[in-house]
Amino acid sequence: MKFFVDTANLEDIKKAYKIGVLSGVTTNPSLVVKEGVSFETRIEEILQAVPEVESVSAEVTPDAVTAEEMIAQADELIKINNNDKNITIKLPMTLAGLEACRYLTKKGVKTNVTLIFTANQALLAARAGATYVSPFLGRLDDISEDGVQLIVKVAELFRIHNLDSQIIAASVRHPDHVTRVAMAGAHIATVPFSVIEQISKHPLTDQGLEKFANDWKKAVQ
Ligand code: E4P
Repeated sequence: MKFFVDTANLEDIKKAYKIGVLSGVTTNPSLVVKEGVSFETRIEEILQAVPEVESVSAEVTPDAVTAEEMIAQADELIKINNNDKNITIKLPMTLAGLEACRYLTKKGVKTNVTLIFTANQALLAARAGATYVSPFLGRLDDISEDGVQLIVKVAELFRIHNLDSQIIAASVRHPDHVTRVAMAGAHIATVPFSVIEQISKHPLTDQGLEKFANDWKKAVQ
């Protein structure tokens, strides 16, 4: 399973890129608003900061409701990176979003269909040619459903039907989500940088380091 970082915060993106585990970045309107910056400028900055990742998701804004409006925004977003292939147009899981997805896929543009909460929605997005589908776990857990179970179902359906779309486990909130979606067969987990930090740590690693340091000090005294 690959890691994408789920943020529009440039510092966090750079930190994740620096440690060499990053395959992509996802953003959404809420994450961009949180940074208080212009959307297009931030997408351009992200694309420049992470030249070697496979995908940077830029989501069409909520005022794009029809497929035509989404496609018009996608055309502008693609220009930001001189039509480079790693920009991915993130589209909502609506009928218009699916129509835009099919159109962009035919044009060779990468797409990520977002806000997926059922296996059926994931199937539709895959059939519309989505490069990536993003089922949201945390928000399902929030309403007392089992978010990881959705990834299990989608992974199994895509396997049975030989569907090529990659599953991005989204709305990941904690380390246990990461392990469980990896075991369920998600191709990617998109996670906040804080989760990458959390999963890099273990108290026994810290204790071990402290012991090595103390022993070393004794030996060199
Ligand atoms: C995914 O692409 C979304 O940006 C994200 O994972 C949403 O997560 P949240 O439910 O924590 O807002």
